[in-house]
Amino acid sequence: MWVLLPSFFGGDRPKNAEEEFPDVSSMLRGCYEPWGILRKPIPAGMKLSDCLREFQTGGLRRNPNGNPFGDVIPSERTPQQERKIANHPSLKPQSFLRQVVYAALPLSEGVIIDTFMGSGSTVAAAEAVGVFCIGVERYLEYYEMSCTAIPKLINLETQIQETEEIGERPEQVFNSASNSLLIYDKFLTLCI
Ligand SMILES: C[S@@+](CC[C@H](N)C(=O)[O-])C[C@H]1O[C@@H](n2cnc3c(N)ncnc32)[C@H](O)[C@@H]1O
Repeated sequence: MWVLLPSFFGGDRPKNAEEEFPDVSSMLRGCYEPWGILRKPIPAGMKLSDCLREFQTGGLRRNPNGNPFGDVIPSERTPQQERKIANHPSLKPQSFLRQVVYAALPLSEGVIIDTFMGSGSTVAAAEAVGVFCIGVERYLEYYEMSCTAIPKLINLETQIQETEEIGERPEQVFNSASNSLLIYDKFLTLCI
């Protein structure tokens, strides 16, 4: 899928001649990122409907307005407001992550696992849309950052989608990260 992300790289004016050629770009400005959604093959002999019944997985959850999850996702640079809450170098915007975690559990059952949690943005997004998430982080500094950042990120309003796209957020997960499990894994070896 393609993530539309304005103001990425490229689009600069000719180097050292910016004032001479103010209306020229040296190359295209990148406005998207490629992202992958991988699906484990549905077991032989099973249809998607069988898989949904048995494993509650295999498809993508439609948006609350009934539209299918698209292969082009509008996004944005991570807002300053979120960067102030979680000063992680790879912090992803809530507006994007909430769309992804919402779609990832087709029946809203099951668990999202982010084994590279960083400051907990995926966990926060999952909580914001009412699904359960486990986050794992190897560095204590980021793990501790996630413990304070997640409750604050959950409560943010996002620009690109909010209740209209995502639906009402359940009250019980709105003010805390208590639904999710955070693991600091310095002594764990992960087999993926
Ligand atoms: C790309 S960042 C994730 C950023 C996160 N999405 C956010 O918005 O804050 C990847 C994170 O994975 C962590 N990491 C790397 N190897 C790991 C491992 N083996 N187990 C757990 N965490 C790991 C890094 O410390 C880093 O914080």
